[in-house]
Amino acid sequence: LRRFMVLGAIASIFSVGAVQAQAPSGPLPPEQIIVIRQAVMDLQQGVAGAMKAAVDAKSDVKPLVPGAKGLVSSAKVITSMFPGGTETGHDTKAKPEIWSDWAGFEKAQAAMLAATEKLVPLAEANDTAGFATQFAAVGRTCGGCHREYKMKD
Ligand code: HEC
Repeated sequence: LRRFMVLGAIASIFSVGAVQAQAPSGPLPPEQIIVIRQAVMDLQQGVAGAMKAAVDAKSDVKPLVPGAKGLVSSAKVITSMFPGGTETGHDTKAKPEIWSDWAGFEKAQAAMLAATEKLVPLAEANDTAGFATQFAAVGRTCGGCHREYKMKD
């Protein structure tokens, strides 16, 4: 009986441990925020590459609706991925101007958001020509921000 009680006690310790296991809470470490923003940027690049291929081939742009919506969503969160404390680390290419000229950085974000929001209805309408023109405008907003706020690779 003693043996069973000991085993039972051990089992309950483990099950308590299992119940208490949960996702970490609290702020993300700065390094992790940098990894996330670089991943988001890389995914944006992937979406933009697929869009360029469709534009070059003059093919249907309707399949690009989810990608266009994704760019709207990522545009909305760009500045939140650059909190104070993430100026350095993980080989970041973020320029110090992001924090010394925060208003300008927000303007660059707003430009991308406005341009991507116009892209969605064009994709939904499968308007290949209109999409091509607006896609070029989106690309200029990526480059516009990078010129001011991202170091050269
Ligand atoms: C408001 C500013 C801003 C906009 C808009 C923006 N980017 Fe960036 N991007 C940055 C900054 C700053 C970095 C450097 C991030 C770092 O290394 O911490 C970056 C990095 C990148 C990288 C390199 C990621 C890596 O793995 O190091 C790619 C690729 C990229 N951006 C693509 C894009 C594309 C495509 C768009 C437009 C659809 C875009 N970006 C729009 C600011 C911006």
